[in-house]
Amino acid sequence: MKIAVGIDSLGFAAPQGFLDLVDLAEARGVPAGKYVDGLGVRRMAVAQPWEDPVALAANAAARVLEGPGVDRERIGLCVVGSETAVDHSKPIAAFLHGLLGLPAQARVYETKHACFGGTAGLFTALDWIASGSARGRAALVICTDIARYALRSAGEPTQGAGAVALLVRERPRLVSFEPTESASWSRDVDDFWRPLDRKEALVDGHLSVQCYLDAISGAYRGWTELTRGKVALARRCYHVPYGKMALKAHRHVRALDGLSEAEADATFAREVAPSLAMPAELGNIYTGSLYLALASLLRAEAASLEGQHVGHFSYGSGCTAEFFAGRVVEGAGALCALLELGQPLEHRKRYTVAEYEAIRGGDATADRTWRGSGAARPGEFAFVGLEKEARRYQRVPK
Ligand code: CAA
Repeated sequence: MKIAVGIDSLGFAAPQGFLDLVDLAEARGVPAGKYVDGLGVRRMAVAQPWEDPVALAANAAARVLEGPGVDRERIGLCVVGSETAVDHSKPIAAFLHGLLGLPAQARVYETKHACFGGTAGLFTALDWIASGSARGRAALVICTDIARYALRSAGEPTQGAGAVALLVRERPRLVSFEPTESASWSRDVDDFWRPLDRKEALVDGHLSVQCYLDAISGAYRGWTELTRGKVALARRCYHVPYGKMALKAHRHVRALDGLSEAEADATFAREVAPSLAMPAELGNIYTGSLYLALASLLRAEAASLEGQHVGHFSYGSGCTAEFFAGRVVEGAGALCALLELGQPLEHRKRYTVAEYEAIRGGDATADRTWRGSGAARPGEFAFVGLEKEARRYQRVPK
């Protein structure tokens, strides 16, 4: 008998502060309606220098490892998906191996394909388990990123930061997947990229929207051919660079199902909106975006969705994409209540535009300044600075 594989537990980490996008609109002389209604964005997380991609990843993973029913000693694979690497050679996963005390026998590495890196990690983990190579062990898949565009650019209101950690194993307690029924779609395009010497991404914004829509058409068509109407989707989670993109994506795939725009819009509140609440708090978190949408959905509706399927669309600029379905496992509702998925959004600080600009102004030197753990919160990991050119981290005592 085939054994189910999928997400057993989930946790995410958010920087301690955010910028309200109405404040940004006012500062940029843009009508607030353009950001709030036109782009569908509300807040974007702003990372302080000590909240780097490694620290965010460690904080998300600690929530999973210190949560109910997880045995750290049984982790045999740790894959980190990121497009905000901190080093051209040493992967974020190697830092995490030390910070989290993972077993010496674990395989650890990083994957990159823009926002798709986490999904690449998830499918590697699913295949590793399904093939038997895991020998009963679990995988930790972590998506971590800081989305930065130039100040005053069109992309500025679609920034964000955060990390999502997924524990993947046999007989999962949250969502199971069927890796043989996942459809990929790829093309060589220049919609979004980040040259090696830059912290800020370059983007051809309107082209990127079109590339995303072409990719979802290709991947969704592939998925419907593979599943031949056998899988009914109760909900749909999309990669969410900004809320309006999820609406555009939904209209696009529902048109392939034969729905008019008005009919697709009528399904949006039920099928998609519950997954957008947490992305609206953090903004675009790149690799983790789809999984933050899933966390948002599970937090709102896991109990009532048990036994039902959720569509997932992952998009990585450049580009590659995947459409796949997951089934919410019986008992997921009770586990989600224990996971306290909304906790990282509590007690956050609202930065002024001046504070946000000051943080961004320090980007160029942030990595080279020794600062200790800064104002990191109790129990959190922080990037403290360089020692003999090597990155150092500390965990603030709880
Ligand atoms: N009130 C209400 N709505 C308004 C408005 C107002 N006063 N003014 C404008 N709008 C609407 C516009 O009609 C438009 O709506 P539609 O998209 O439905 O047509 C919307 O607000 C945006 O307006 P513009 O297209 O004029 O916005 P823009 O040119 O300033 O830039 C953007 C929009 C291209 C998305 C830009 O924010 C950007 O480059 N973002 C980064 C790239 C990105 O996120 N791409 C997404 C696909 S790629 C991907 O998903 C990978 C990834 O993570 C990056």
